[in-house]
Amino acid sequence: MYRFLLTISSISTWIGFSLSICPKGGIPGEIEGSCLFVVKLNGTFESAKEFCLDYDGNLVSIKSEKENEKVLGLTKVLPESTKFIWLGGTFNGKKITWIDGSSAEFSALTEGSPSGNLLMNLTSGKWTTSNWNGMFPFACLSQPQQDPSNQPPSCPPYSPCPTGWVYSEKLKQCYKTIFNVIFTEADEGCRMMNSFLASIHSDEENDFVNDLGKAGIIQPTWSQVPLIGGKRTGPEKTDWKWLDGTSFNYTKWADGEPSNNGNNEFCLQTYSDLMAPFDKSAAYLYKWNDEQCEIRYRVAVCKQAAKF
Ligand SMILES: *[C@@H]1O[C@H](CO)[C@@H](O)[C@H](O)[C@H]1NC(C)=O
Ligand SMILES: *[C@@H]1O[C@H](CO)[C@@H](O)[C@H](O)[C@H]1NC(C)=O
Ligand SMILES: *[C@@H]1O[C@H](CO)[C@@H](O)[C@H](O)[C@H]1NC(C)=O
Repeated sequence: MYRFLLTISSISTWIGFSLSICPKGGIPGEIEGSCLFVVKLNGTFESAKEFCLDYDGNLVSIKSEKENEKVLGLTKVLPESTKFIWLGGTFNGKKITWIDGSSAEFSALTEGSPSGNLLMNLTSGKWTTSNWNGMFPFACLSQPQQDPSNQPPSCPPYSPCPTGWVYSEKLKQCYKTIFNVIFTEADEGCRMMNSFLASIHSDEENDFVNDLGKAGIIQPTWSQVPLIGGKRTGPEKTDWKWLDGTSFNYTKWADGEPSNNGNNEFCLQTYSDLMAPFDKSAAYLYKWNDEQCEIRYRVAVCKQAAKF
């Protein structure tokens, strides 16, 4: 089955440095130190659940009218076309169970709702249920971080990267793949994790990013090889920038690229795998192609500087 991956991971485990992880746009929750935030990505209930877990939180639970209003207020950042968001509860036909174990004393569930996972209707603020795997934005409630200075000493394996990120010792950078995204979703997804779609500045880095993004099989279409962080700024072959603002001082274009086919290739991808539409000479392998931003990429690579 197709898995809608939003395996976007934690920015929360290196909290030795920053105690309250509240992504941009987040606001304090009812419990001191907690953070309520809305995620502008479409996810299934399951992938949304995982996303919040990576922030040491859960899909939001709602315990009062006031909290309901707060969450509804936060959804104003979503496109107007958004009708629902996932909440962190399920309804079994009789009662609501919140994933985070909150008691279900408050409910805004529309009467007669069938059993299913909870959605908030953004028009009314009332809740409804869905038992199909639709994709909607969602709200997370992350728990207060514990102050590491109060913890008994322990020796967790030290990584200068957040959990779920891959560290390159040589490049002193952290990388993470996210899946099933068009450019705008990938850009936003990386930014939410304090990162950008990856820029590339050397052969080593190019190899690293391609190794990370490759599937290891011959790919049938362009959408299957990684999206990285280059953006066309104009019609010339040299009109490119990196989204992270670093200098576009290294390139690895495949033969004939960037072609700007149809005047519509504003994004940058790298051939991490052999492509079925091509000959198998592999001359293009680990080299770059300009591509449409609107195609749904199998994978995109985010990057952030390692923290020491
Ligand atoms: C989520 O999907 C809907 C319907 O496909 C789309 O209109 C909307 O723009 C998407 N939202 C985001 C944040 O990608
Ligand atoms: C959402 O709320 C609006 C306004 O109350 C209502 O018209 C609509 O039917 C609701 N949708 C669902 C699926 O409950
Ligand atoms: C290219 O830019 C990167 C990132 O700003 C920088 O670290 C690197 O030294 C530059 N390389 C050259 C050859 O100028």
